[in-house]
Amino acid sequence: MSAKQIKRIGILTAGGDSPGLNAAIRAVGKAAIGERGWEIIGFRDGYLGLAQDSFIALGKEHLSGILTVGGTVLGTSRDKVHRMMIDGVERDMTKAIVRNYRRHRLDALVCIGGGGTQKNAMRLAELGVRIVTLPKTIDNDVPLTDATIGFDTALGIATEAVDRLHSTAHSHHRIIIAEIMGHKAGWLTLGAGISGGADVILIPEIPYDIEKIAAAIRRRSKLDTKFSIVAVAEGAKSQEDAAAFEAAERRRAKARTVEDKGFARLRLSELETEHAGNTLRVAKQLEGLTGLEARVTILGYVQRGGTPSFGDRLLATRLGTACVDLLAKGAESIMVAARGHGVQPVPIESVAGRLKLVPMDHPWIASARSVGTCMGD
Ligand code: F6P
Repeated sequence: MSAKQIKRIGILTAGGDSPGLNAAIRAVGKAAIGERGWEIIGFRDGYLGLAQDSFIALGKEHLSGILTVGGTVLGTSRDKVHRMMIDGVERDMTKAIVRNYRRHRLDALVCIGGGGTQKNAMRLAELGVRIVTLPKTIDNDVPLTDATIGFDTALGIATEAVDRLHSTAHSHHRIIIAEIMGHKAGWLTLGAGISGGADVILIPEIPYDIEKIAAAIRRRSKLDTKFSIVAVAEGAKSQEDAAAFEAAERRRAKARTVEDKGFARLRLSELETEHAGNTLRVAKQLEGLTGLEARVTILGYVQRGGTPSFGDRLLATRLGTACVDLLAKGAESIMVAARGHGVQPVPIESVAGRLKLVPMDHPWIASARSVGTCMGD
């Protein structure tokens, strides 16, 4: 499609909310309306709004004053285009979505989101919807981009929490365990753990041995430092649990019959349920093994809330404006990735369904170890 043909685009935000989404909506909207003279329609609550035709025609008035506002003015949801709960029934809404896209005479759709959003975008691109995506998630787990919108702010919040936990840990000679988000990736915990000076950092990529963590804490006690800060990712697992998850994943991958697939899924969901209280378990185990008192702080949604950092505002504005430029040049089925100070279009298919985990040889891990941080292994 040539540049001149674009008249109207749609935009939506999907997946978990994160700081910087409004800055991205603003950037796309201002560049589309102001610079190109396009119309822009915002769909409410992610792909759900596109399926149910719930939208708002965005004007300059909607784009002013939102740069510094957290969350997303469009609303969001984790709905999948091919498995959406409508009136209590799971439905494939892909055809309805394509119909609404055409009915609005959209020339392109901008989807801002993380891994799930990229997968859904891919499904729609396969049906002929012209899509460009932007990477957003506090987890920083989208491949082929240096950064995702929301990560920098969440990193700042989690770091400040680790900082603040030091004084109470120190005063009471306790172990304080901070649980940090990130789903299956350890970026947020590793980054905040290093920046906040945590003594132990546990990430999903490095299954831990509780005895080794206890030994590290006991060593500190012997040196008369009777407090320790443990930054633990919500997805961090003991070596035994990680082996059980891997076995269940292997079983799911090998399952051929509906029955086998059902069993494998059930086993995985049982493991997930058991794992849900893991941070509290770590605290109990460390108390038992060190004789020190342990307390837990689960940071939770605080990490996704509030004003975006300047880094996220800058990233969102860079990616949002580049997205409009790329659309004007005819781009489709791409994600606008951050590369150095610039951007790089990457095919959505090379991103969808993939996770960027912390590689074992990542310099952040080496740095953490070099300053004496116990990584649990
Ligand atoms: O993807 C962002 C994130 O905050 C993850 O860190 C966390 O695992 C997940 O979302 C929680 O999802 P929800 O808000 O849907 O419960």
